[in-house]
Amino acid sequence: MREPIIAGNWKMFKTVSEAQAFINEVKGRAEIDGVESVICAPFTNLPALVEAVKGTKIKVGAQNLHWEESGAFTGEISGAMLEDLGVNYVIIGHSERRAYFAETDETVNKKVHASFKYNLTPIVCVGEKLEEREAGQTKEVCKLQVNEAFRGLSKEQAAQVVVAYEPIWAIGTGKSSTAEDANEVITYIREQLIALFDVETANHVRIQYGGSVKPNNVREYMNQLSIDGALVGGASLDPNSFTQLVEGAK
Ligand code: G3P
Repeated sequence: MREPIIAGNWKMFKTVSEAQAFINEVKGRAEIDGVESVICAPFTNLPALVEAVKGTKIKVGAQNLHWEESGAFTGEISGAMLEDLGVNYVIIGHSERRAYFAETDETVNKKVHASFKYNLTPIVCVGEKLEEREAGQTKEVCKLQVNEAFRGLSKEQAAQVVVAYEPIWAIGTGKSSTAEDANEVITYIREQLIALFDVETANHVRIQYGGSVKPNNVREYMNQLSIDGALVGGASLDPNSFTQLVEGAK
C-alpha cells in the first residue's frame, strides 16, 4: 500500500566530486522497483546531484529550507531556490537543527507549508530525548511535534508528508531502538494522524524510523507493519552500504 522509502541524510559530509562519485557507484544498484531511494545532501552538492541522478530512479533532497521565498536572511536557502534546482525532498525539523539552530515546532510548521508551496515533499523529523524517554514522555513529545508539524495542512497535503521518527538517543550512537519499540511509537504517530485527519489520509503517510539504522538491521524495521522506511545518517555515506539499505527495504 505504501511504497517503502530509504533516505540518506548526509548531514555535513561530501564535496561535490565525492557526491558525484557516490552516484556513479550506486547507479543501477540503489534503484529497486518498489523502493524509493533518496539522497539528502548539503546545499553545495544539490545542483551536481540533480544532474547526476538524471535518468535514474534516485531522488534528491535538501536538509533544510527557509519558509520565506527570499529576503534578508543571511546564510539561508529558500524553497523557491530548491524548486529551481529540481530538488524533490527536504528534511525538516531534524533534531540537530532543533538542538543547535533554534528550530521550533512553529518554524517546522512554517517550513512544511513552504515545502508544499515550492513542490517539495517534506520529511518531518520527530523524536524524544533520552531523558524524555526515561521519563515515559516519548508519546507525549511525538504527539505534540506531529500536531504542530501538520497544523493547517489539507488532507491531500498531509497524505504526501513523510514522517521520520528518530529517537534522539539513537542518532549516531549505535544504540538503535528495537524494531518493536519503534513500531509501537510509529503506530502511535499514525493514530495521531487519524485523529487529526482520517484513516485514509493517515494510511497514506509514510513513516520512517531513523537512528543507527545499518544494512544488518534494516530488515528488522522493514518487517514491522507500521514502518515504511528509514532515514539513515552514517550508513548512507558509503555507496555499498546505501545500496544494501535499499535492497533491505524490498
Ligand atoms: O537523519 C538520520 C540521522 O539522524 C540518523 O543518523 O547516523 O544514527 O543513522 P545515524
